[in-house]
This record gives sequence, structure tokens and C-alpha cells, in this order.
Amino acid sequence: MIISLAEESSFAPLEPRTTNQPAWKDCHYSKLAWLSDIHLDFLESAQRTTFYRRLAAIQFDYLLITGDIATSHELISVLNELSDALRRPIGFVLGNHDFYDSSFCAIRSELEKTLASNPHLHWLSQPPGYVVLNSDVALMGIDSWADGRAGDYQNSSVVLNDHLRIHDMQHLGKYERLQLMQQLADDAEAELRRNLPKLLSHFKTVLIASHVPLFAESCHDASDVLPDDAYLPHFCWQSGGTALQEEVSEYPSGGHVIALCGHTHRHAQVDISPRIQIRVSKATYGNPLIHVLDLTKPTIPQFTLLDT
Ligand SMILES: [Fe+2]
Ligand SMILES: [Fe+2]
Repeated sequence: MIISLAEESSFAPLEPRTTNQPAWKDCHYSKLAWLSDIHLDFLESAQRTTFYRRLAAIQFDYLLITGDIATSHELISVLNELSDALRRPIGFVLGNHDFYDSSFCAIRSELEKTLASNPHLHWLSQPPGYVVLNSDVALMGIDSWADGRAGDYQNSSVVLNDHLRIHDMQHLGKYERLQLMQQLADDAEAELRRNLPKLLSHFKTVLIASHVPLFAESCHDASDVLPDDAYLPHFCWQSGGTALQEEVSEYPSGGHVIALCGHTHRHAQVDISPRIQIRVSKATYGNPLIHVLDLTKPTIPQFTLLDT
């Protein structure tokens, strides 16, 4: 079954390129496949192969994965499997599950080693922090984290697997953990503020890949109930949303931003302003979904969800 999710968004014309701006690589991608929260550790080897074949049969130029690819045990191997199966560029950011049973430092170091030998894999949060998809569209990626600022962290008794399975969090108390969550989120915010202005001034559309949704409004579906104040601190990257609104308002004639997110596993589509749209992919363990985004009309995004 194919569900078409097309809608129109407005954008402001771009300012002309100036000579002191970097020369962008000349790419002409027209189709982006987008996966989020595919949790490939839930699939047996044969099921993963079937999924890769299905993906390989789809017409697209660039694959984006917005985190929760697997857990630390399988992360590197499934990235290599995807790369071998597709032989097309794959950009990804990491989600909280990707660090399970390991540490931030160990996973980052392992990834750096793997990426050095695989030209198809782009860890998008690493310098320069973005790729140019075509003359109108750039994609930036951020390893975001929920920052505990939305909802009511103080009175929340929610315990996530993150707190038990990520080595850096296992021995932390509630407020030490909040400090670490905010440090991760604030590092991500700094990345957003570093790269977004130059991309906004240059491209009609900037796609932002972020595992964690940037606004509380995007942490639920219109048909669903808003996650209560106990869960929001763990679902939302609130400082990222504030930074995004501030940076976009600094460039009134700049491009249009579409943030592609996951983490909540609930579909959401929220227009924060005429130039900021948030999309959150639905996800189901054991049944990875594939979205295809037509990049030829980037300010009138045409999303297609290929159902299984
Ligand atoms: Fe997930
Ligand atoms: Fe997640």
C-alpha cells in the first residue's frame, strides 16, 4: 500500500551566493529514501536480507537514517550490510539505542574506524556536518538528545533503558543524568547553530536529520494523546527547537527547514511556522518503514510512505 503525504509550504527567495561562501559539491540527487528507528537488532539475518533487497529495489539516490539503527552489538555490521546491499550513499545520525551496551566514546571511536574504509557511509554529525543533495537542498545531521527541558523532569519517575544500558548513564543519579542529557543536547545545539545559518542563506530547503524531535508538539500524533509531563523530558530536544526558531528568524529571506526525526515512534507532521516543518516517522519494532522524499520540488515536499 502506498500512502501519499503531499502538502505545500511557503519559502522566501534566496539571497544571491557571495564569493566568500564555500563552493558546494555539485550533486543532483532527486530522491531521498528516509528510514528511522529501524532497530535492525529485532530482525533475524534472513529478515534483514529481505529488507535490504526491498530497499535496493526502490529508486533513490541517497539514503538517510535518523537513528536507532540497532544497538552497539550490531551497529557497525548492519551499516556495512546496508552499504554492501545498496552501493549508494548512506547518511545517518545516531539515536539512543545505538549506544546500548556500550559507551559514547567507544561507539564514536569504532564508527570513525569503520567510516575511514567505507566511502558510502556518511556519519552526518561529523565535520562538515552537512551534505549538499542538489542545488536547492542541503541535508545537515545532528546526534541530538532529549534535554529534559520539556515536561516535568523533577517529578518524572520514568526510567528508560538508556539509563540502564548506556555505560555512561548506568551509575548516574537522576540529576547527574539530567546534566549529561543537557550536555549532549547542548553540544547538538551548538552544531545546529554552527551550520544552519550558512545553509539557510544558500539553499531553498535545508533538511535537518535529528533522532529526537525538536518541539513538544511534534512528540505526538493528532490522533494520539500528548505524552504526559513524565515522558516529555525524554522525548523532546527542546533547546534544539528554540535554536532552530532563532536561527531561522535571523534569516528572513533564507530557506525553508524540514526536520526529519524519530525516537517517539509516532507519526507527526507539525508546521511550527511557514518556514519550519517537523516530520516524525512512525516506527514499529521488527517492521522497518521506508519513506521516499522527492527532492525535485523541495519547498513542496512530496513524501511517500512505502508500507510493508
Ligand atoms: Fe526507536
Ligand atoms: Fe530513540
